[in-house]
Amino acid sequence: MKLPLKRGFGRTDRIDEWWKGPTAMAAYLGLMIVYATWRGFMEADFWIFSELGYSAGVGHGAGTMAIEEHGSHVLSPLFSPLIIPGENSWIPRELQWLSPAMFILIFPAGFRATCYYYRKAYYRVFFHQPTGCAVSKPWNEYSGETGLFVVQNLHRIFMYVALIYMPILTWDFLLSINLDSEHSGLEIFNPEIVTVGSVVLLINVLMLSGYTFGCHAFRHVVGGGANKWTGRPMNRIKYMMWRVSTYLNENHKDWALYSLFWVMFTDFYIWACTDPLFGWTDMILWGGP
Ligand code: FES
Repeated sequence: MKLPLKRGFGRTDRIDEWWKGPTAMAAYLGLMIVYATWRGFMEADFWIFSELGYSAGVGHGAGTMAIEEHGSHVLSPLFSPLIIPGENSWIPRELQWLSPAMFILIFPAGFRATCYYYRKAYYRVFFHQPTGCAVSKPWNEYSGETGLFVVQNLHRIFMYVALIYMPILTWDFLLSINLDSEHSGLEIFNPEIVTVGSVVLLINVLMLSGYTFGCHAFRHVVGGGANKWTGRPMNRIKYMMWRVSTYLNENHKDWALYSLFWVMFTDFYIWACTDPLFGWTDMILWGGP
């Protein structure tokens, strides 16, 4: 049944400022996408980008991807795990002109692009499906998640891969509080150095945990299809995990938006501390070489 809507893109009988939310969301998501793409390409060695980055692949060290000034290692999450073709991976040396981000960003990007919350957000602001409640949109039909959009069903697979990133990013945090020279073992409770960069990395891990463990698919994996929450220890563990996931899931939108901002901020902080253009220094808060 078609509602008696005014015809013409954006026309409506609504008298509130309905366009403010979608406009802000379009600006926010657009900015994040442009920034991540720019940073990913910055460390590539082709075209105009060869002048900008210091790609690890051509012997310039970690470039703007990691702060290494105090003997610790503060790696940007946009480049973690750091894959350098021909050196620490099965990726051939011939691909060194690509940015390390290009080998790994597909998974977090796929995780977010297929997330139930982000789907709602970008279907509205980028595809106008719908433009807003009771607001006329540029096209009338909605064919659902068919055709190319069936790839959205891969969300659960992306979620499994995203889970692998959590220990990797935690490891990065541990590297940031331990000095290279003392690498007999990583200490969690006995750090050798704490910089602003390590705190930024830790917050990033916490924010991403809140986002990932509150994922609808993760909540279903731990709690779906379970009829009993008591009795066997495994049931009780599942119940506990489901409770935590449900708690996080209630604010999944906030976790999604804030964790995205923090990933980009973490990368920006590391870029600013490694590029003379900004001249920032990663301040030591405790310990040191
Ligand atoms: S639903 Fe948002 S991350 Fe899975």
